[in-house]
Amino acid sequence: MCGIVGYIGERQAQPILLNCLQKLEYRGYDSCGIAVSQSNIQVYKDIIRIKEMEKALPKIEGMAGVGHTRWATHGGPSKANAHPHCDCTGKIAVVHNGVITNYHKLRQQLVSEGHNFSSQTDSEVIPHLVEKYFDGDLEKAIYLALRDVEGSYAIIILAAGEHRLIAARKDSPLIIGIGDRENFIASDVPAVLDYTSRVIYLEDGDTAVIAKDNIKVKSNGTGVDRKEHKILWSVEDAQKAGYEHFMLKEIHEQPKVIRDTLSEYISAGAPAANLMTPGDTLEDWLILACGTSYHAALIGKYIIEELVRIPVRVELASEFNYWGQTSAKTRAIVITQSGETADAIRAIKRLKEKGCQLITITNVVDSTASRLTDQVVYTRAGLEISVPATKSFMAQLIALYWLVLPYARIDNRRKDSLITELRQLPGKVQQVLDNEAVIAEYGRELSKYENAFFIGRGINFPLSLEGALKLKEISYIHAEGYAAGELKHGPFALLSGDTPVIAIAAQDNTYEAMLTNIKEVKARQSPVMALIVEGDDVGRDLADWAIAVPEVHPIFSPLINVVALQLLAYYTAKHRGCPIDFPRNLAKSVTVE
Ligand code: BG6
Repeated sequence: MCGIVGYIGERQAQPILLNCLQKLEYRGYDSCGIAVSQSNIQVYKDIIRIKEMEKALPKIEGMAGVGHTRWATHGGPSKANAHPHCDCTGKIAVVHNGVITNYHKLRQQLVSEGHNFSSQTDSEVIPHLVEKYFDGDLEKAIYLALRDVEGSYAIIILAAGEHRLIAARKDSPLIIGIGDRENFIASDVPAVLDYTSRVIYLEDGDTAVIAKDNIKVKSNGTGVDRKEHKILWSVEDAQKAGYEHFMLKEIHEQPKVIRDTLSEYISAGAPAANLMTPGDTLEDWLILACGTSYHAALIGKYIIEELVRIPVRVELASEFNYWGQTSAKTRAIVITQSGETADAIRAIKRLKEKGCQLITITNVVDSTASRLTDQVVYTRAGLEISVPATKSFMAQLIALYWLVLPYARIDNRRKDSLITELRQLPGKVQQVLDNEAVIAEYGRELSKYENAFFIGRGINFPLSLEGALKLKEISYIHAEGYAAGELKHGPFALLSGDTPVIAIAAQDNTYEAMLTNIKEVKARQSPVMALIVEGDDVGRDLADWAIAVPEVHPIFSPLINVVALQLLAYYTAKHRGCPIDFPRNLAKSVTVE
């Protein structure tokens, strides 16, 4: 996600803006820029790290300015796409964090009215809209401009000659730091903590006019008093938004990630990519990935086979690169969060050599994988800092559902109901998060063991693999994910009171078999922790510990169950005192084979 900052006061803005931006680097970015106003506005932006910009910039005079770190979404990383963006006169500079979903229409209208655009971004429509409506009253022009905008925004507007900044927020956070004859604006608290601990949180629909010694906030046009808060966090704590680890913060970001990723696809209107075209002669469907993305790929297999009725094979990219067979008649999907994993990149190159119909699902715009692929489906998880993948996995699943649904061989009524349920999932995921205290307690129990099995069936079998991987990655407990029906063919030998089994008992056609498996496991003294659907008293009574999750259509159950498993792994590792965000021996993206 992007980061925006603003300063107005009695000191030179440039060094303050750059320092504030540095405190937002944790959000991830590929370009940055600042604009400072004196009598006119000077803008400096590039595909550059902030430290480098600090060295490269000439000294710019001015005591008001805005700054931006950009995590590319619409339009790849480039100097032109970096913020701030200006209107045609260069007298209005804007920084934006969010997604303007109706920017195509707005841009066409503005171009037809003579506005010239210099970027591919959605954000650039904002300064041109303000210019369009400006007749001497800047606040009114901004109000009219934002009335035309749909989507999410946190913006700060700098106008030449104005001794005030104007900020507004809708579905994208924005705070004001209160200083002594100076004020600060930022996407997030860490940016201002070097200067003040007095903060106002703007709310959706708020517009703020900020001068160096005065702040006026309006909510949908009516003056309001927003409460001042005193921040006691350190900068690092603030970057985690108060969570103890980035992993926990990112687990809690998942309802928003589902909304962001879905709103991107829904607003685009067309299918995320052409999975199949009428009359094509694809004979072979193949999904490739590594690590957690491989588990998303396995779930993708179940989704496609259930909805499109086409057999799908899933290969580990690292194996495919040596043994995999493929041809020009292969429909291939590669899933890679970072877009830089060496095994995935090598697989993409091999698929291209063979002439496969390739789609890449990735979270990073302009990553190596996206640059190698014609059809790219971006997820909108934002930067994922913690090494164990959580929110990026969730976003990958959303991408797979959205990719497949238009081609589902089901009637439109059922398709619509699935889409409706998909859009309600953020609330269901939040319910799992609201049960965190119970899961944390079970993590304390699980932390006492050195070995564990995760078992599941059907679409939740890959989830048992993911739950085991999460636990391995961060708690260093030896955990194995297993098809529940397979446990009796060997692993039963390992069952004892020292080997707990986490069983995913979804309310689908595997439920009865799962109950049987739980009984078999208990008969061999293993304690059982069951993921059950709310109201499943049978499952609750059978298990030693039961984690209840809200009921959803079986095809969506991985989206709900995975959150419980992520929290379980997190709290188990926490109770074992492990370095959760950066586990030993692991990297966020393995760019070597
Ligand atoms: C590993 C990461 O190095 O790479 C995992 O620790 C990740 O979290 C795996 O799932 C694959 O990464 P990517 O970026 O290709 O999805």
